[in-house]
Amino acid sequence: MKIPYFTPWLTKEDGKNILKTLNQRWLTNGPNLKKFENKFCSLIGSKFAIGVGSATHALHLSVKSLGIGPGDEVIVPTFTFAATANAVEYCGAKTIFADVEQDTFNISPKEIQRKITKKTKAIIVVHYGGQACDMDKIISISKKRGLKIIEDCAHALGSTFKNKKCGSMGITGCFSFYPTKIITTGEGGMVTSSNSRISHKICMLKSQGMNVLPSEREKKGKWRYDIEDLGFNYRLDEIRAALGLSQFRRVKEINRRRINIAKKYNSLIKKIPGLSIPATKSDRNHIYHLYSIKIEKNYNLTRDQLIQKLHKNNIGTSVQYYPLHLMSYFEKKYHYKKLQFPNANILKDKILCLPIFPTMTEKQVKFVVSKLS
Ligand SMILES: Cc1ncc(COP(=O)(O)O)c(C=O)c1O
Repeated sequence: MKIPYFTPWLTKEDGKNILKTLNQRWLTNGPNLKKFENKFCSLIGSKFAIGVGSATHALHLSVKSLGIGPGDEVIVPTFTFAATANAVEYCGAKTIFADVEQDTFNISPKEIQRKITKKTKAIIVVHYGGQACDMDKIISISKKRGLKIIEDCAHALGSTFKNKKCGSMGITGCFSFYPTKIITTGEGGMVTSSNSRISHKICMLKSQGMNVLPSEREKKGKWRYDIEDLGFNYRLDEIRAALGLSQFRRVKEINRRRINIAKKYNSLIKKIPGLSIPATKSDRNHIYHLYSIKIEKNYNLTRDQLIQKLHKNNIGTSVQYYPLHLMSYFEKKYHYKKLQFPNANILKDKILCLPIFPTMTEKQVKFVVSKLS
């Protein structure tokens, strides 16, 4: 048996929906994107949803639209993908890493408090693996200190905190449609927000800073437009929007399937000494974008030895994450000492993400677990 770390769930219907768009004249900024954005707003409960080329774009536009730049600081968890911190770096601001909690792997509110200075402008929270951060505490800190919260929801399409959707609690929410994610468009992303000023700015910045789009100019028969700011081409085209819209219809089913797979894993893995199953909190759901276990000291192999064993048995795995403060670019630039992040430093040697994808069968789950014991 061969079990990849992930495989996207693409249906014939998805294919048909992509092909239909090839008959359209406007292959970007057309009807599919509008529909996809509207459906996204309804699910998240945000006033606006703006399709972009990736979550990296979504994060960059979020930081930029807040006017954050040189001299400013943004707090980011160290236990995340580079894109979260890169968004801060692109804007010329300083990335201030914070440690995470040992159990949820989410940014620690206490650590946020410790890292705030006069220069802090925002906090980027990452809802690790599909389980929300402790948003009550983080929102309360941000209100007291006048900070903005950007939610990195790359793992969290459908995740909730006290029944509030991830992507509806910060000034923006940033979603990814990379092939491993809850839904995919190949590459793609979405920004959600209920702030009309920020949303307008993001729309303008994602299309070269233009104030009137070509399709609107055509409709009105007016050629004139202005470039209001230094923008980008961060658009999500119609072909990918059609795939996103098609996949979006299955979000609830996808998450139901992921939760069921995680339950099967949990029931089998909790019997194995030396392995810890993912911790869950009662005030939030977990949609298991990642199924991350911890390899403890009393397990008979090290984490890396286990990865090799699984690899030899044709089982794909991943380590999410090796902390960013130890990555060359950030270490060279900021000279972070390893001791500043005790939890992330322990987790980096313990964490292992097992295969999880919506079409994974019970037989496949059992096969993976059989190679763990
Ligand atoms: C936490 C997190 N943030 C941001 C991203 C970037 O997403 P994208 O590849 O859509 O730019 C990822 C991608 O893996 C991620 O895991």
